Order: sequence, then structure tokens, then C-alpha cells
Amino acid sequence: MTIDSPLPAPEGQHWNADRYAENARFVADLGSAVLNWLAPQPGERILDLGCGDGHLTRRLADLGVTVVGVDAAPDMLVAARKLGLDVRLMNGHELDFEQEFDAVFSNAALHWMRRPEAVLASVKRALRPGGRFVGEFGGHANVAAIQVALLAVCQRRGLDAEQVLPWYFPTADEYRDRLQNTGFIVDRMETIPRPTALPTSMRGWMETFAGDAMGQLPSAERGAALDEIVALLGPVLRDASGQWVADYVRLRFAAHLS
Ligand code: BEZ
Repeated sequence: MTIDSPLPAPEGQHWNADRYAENARFVADLGSAVLNWLAPQPGERILDLGCGDGHLTRRLADLGVTVVGVDAAPDMLVAARKLGLDVRLMNGHELDFEQEFDAVFSNAALHWMRRPEAVLASVKRALRPGGRFVGEFGGHANVAAIQVALLAVCQRRGLDAEQVLPWYFPTADEYRDRLQNTGFIVDRMETIPRPTALPTSMRGWMETFAGDAMGQLPSAERGAALDEIVALLGPVLRDASGQWVADYVRLRFAAHLS
């Protein structure tokens, strides 16, 4: 299997912490399983890669961990600092750490980093010998229905898949190969279908997570495009009570260096 990424670096999603809190609180709420895989010990020094607004980072700190969070979204870091956390603006492809951490942890962030070989090399550099890398992110066919609807509606308006689908959702086999090729020993790896009830609506999800894709459309077109996406997805992703349930698939892994 090839491990060279054909994907370019993303331009970067523009995050709004208030909108995220309203539409995406479940992201941190559903992070307990991967935290269990991390098994953080008091006194350990842990890097939270893609810490966002810091809700899971805070949980790590409350367990007695010395935790540093990094994220590429300044607005989210403002929210994280309000939780009293040590967080820094940094790109996961180019972490500025040398053998500093007992573990690197990441929840729901690695799929935004489209050059996984650079991210893995960067994580390896940040870890002490024997250090762990434990994370969870979108796996192959994550939010597949949403991706198809977004692509169909944007393609009709002249955009292509590279422009509208900014995510990296690998299979377990692919990601295991990448970890091993970087020098990690893979302890556990699971692909987990996880239908997820949305706290607000598909419109709220799209505005929170696909804003940059939609932003490439002329502003006069965006409202109609969003209406079309929501109409396409309704019969597939709304249950009988009208609740939106998104078709999430997680890839969860635990690996370590020798
Ligand atoms: C995810 O956490 O799986 C996800 C988040 C935003 C867009 C797509 C997927």
C-alpha cells in the first residue's frame, strides 16, 4: 500500500467558538472512550493535538496531567484559555516540540490535517522514547451521506471534490501502515460506526463544519445550496421523530514508540 499522500494542505477551516459550542458539544462529550485508551497518569506531560475549545484538555488537566494544547484556530484557543489552559497556536504538520511529551493525544482533529505523513513525523519528534500516540478521528466513509450531498450540490455549481471535501478519512489498514512506517508500534486500532444525534440541525452542522466549502460558492448561491443539501439529507439522516442523526465513523488507535 502506498503511503504518499496525494492531498494538498488545506487552507484551514475558520472556526467560531460560540457556534461550535452550540452545534458540536458532543465532540468532547463523546471523547471518554479515547481518553480511556490514553489512560493518562497524574504527573505525565501530555500534548493535546487539535485541542479546539479545550473541553477534553481541561479533563486531562483535572486528572493531574501537565497538559499543553495546540490548535491552528485562534478563536478556539481564546475559548480554551478561558478554561485556564496552557494552549498554543500551532500547526499539527509542524509541531515545535522535541522529545518533550509522555503522550500525544488527539480527538476529532487529525482528519483536518491532510498531510498525515508530516503530522506523524511531527508527533514522533514531540514524544520521548517510549511515548504514546493515542487518538480518534474520522475513519473511511465518515459522514458519507453528508459528503455526497455536499459534493453533488457544489459540483452542480462548478466546484470539485478537492475544493469541497477538505477531510482525511483513512481506513484502519492505511493508518496502521502509516503509523508503522513512521516507527510506531500499534497496540490497538478500531473502526467504529457511530451514528450521532445532532444537538441542533443539519443546517447547524453544515455551518459549523462545512463553512469553508460553502464559502467557495458565490455568496448569492449559498442559501439555496444549503437548502438543497438539507433537503437531500432529510430523508436519509432524520429519524421518525425528526431528529438528525449524522453517519459518523470513528477510527480509534493507540500506538507507542520503542
Ligand atoms: C468528524 O469529527 O468526524 C468530522 C467533523 C467535521 C467534519 C467532518 C467530520
